[in-house]
Amino acid sequence: MKIIDKIEKIKKEKKAVILAHNYQRPEIQDIADYIGDSIELSRKAKEEKKAEIIVFAAVDFMAESAAILNPKKRVLLPSLGARCPMAQMLTTDEIKRYKAKYPGAPVVLYVNTLASSKAQCDICCTSANAVEVVNSFDSNTILFGPDRNLADYVSEITGKKLITIPEWGFCPTHVLFQPEDVLVLKMKYPDAVVMVHPECSSEMRKVADFVGSTSKMCKYAKNTDSKTIIVGTERGLLHRLKKENPEKVFLMAYDDAICPNMKLLTLEKIYSSLKNEHYEIKIPKRVAKKARKALERMFKLNN
Ligand code: 13P
Ligand code: SF4
Repeated sequence: MKIIDKIEKIKKEKKAVILAHNYQRPEIQDIADYIGDSIELSRKAKEEKKAEIIVFAAVDFMAESAAILNPKKRVLLPSLGARCPMAQMLTTDEIKRYKAKYPGAPVVLYVNTLASSKAQCDICCTSANAVEVVNSFDSNTILFGPDRNLADYVSEITGKKLITIPEWGFCPTHVLFQPEDVLVLKMKYPDAVVMVHPECSSEMRKVADFVGSTSKMCKYAKNTDSKTIIVGTERGLLHRLKKENPEKVFLMAYDDAICPNMKLLTLEKIYSSLKNEHYEIKIPKRVAKKARKALERMFKLNN
């Protein structure tokens, strides 16, 4: 039996669903029940009523969010190595240190954080709703972690002062993009439009026609009249972009922008995860309760 048939069969037997992030390998996106950006996947996990098991084809913080929002379901991450390095950059000690330094300042954390960090914040945000979340506070000074580039982007739009925790937080994949590479491509394809993820540098944002989350980029690609689109995010998004827009041409702003953590997952690992029911995400109740509050607050604001 082919691996995709084996996955389909075991999925039915175990009443499981597979949620996959837009950066997953093409063959994983193709067998997933649902594909999306981080807020869409969290929302889907929250609304999931029928399944007993959720296999999260993504990285640790996304699977953790699903487990926090769905305490009665078993959430499986098919590889223990699939950890987002940006999420690891923020420690609870660092959050406490900043809170003590800026008493009363609201703490907004990107969902790309571990559950223990989420438990320390007022509200979570994703790249799709960060502006709205920050604008929901009257305060002009906001503590924001861990992505420095996303913080700068939100600060530019809202006019608020975002203090980044840690000061230097970044995504190792998105910082690979350089505006020079875009300008070279634009010389060859002058009619091309450029879309980038807010985890890219401010220099990259300056050469972009559109800045948004992975799913917002998919919408932009569909709606733009331009036939050639330069992409400033992880390579995995190309699969969905090409599938949804077969008549358009997509060019990576930097060919090797690959998130090795997202790419750890394979069809074999998904099958093994379903068969052996590993690796189950377990969050201590006390932490989960606080983190859930921060996530729910985000959903209330951004339904
Ligand atoms: P999105 O929410 O835009 O899918 O981004 C998640 C992520 O990890 C980007 O690097
Ligand atoms: Fe984390 Fe960057 Fe990978 Fe997204 S692309 S999961 S932020 S390392």
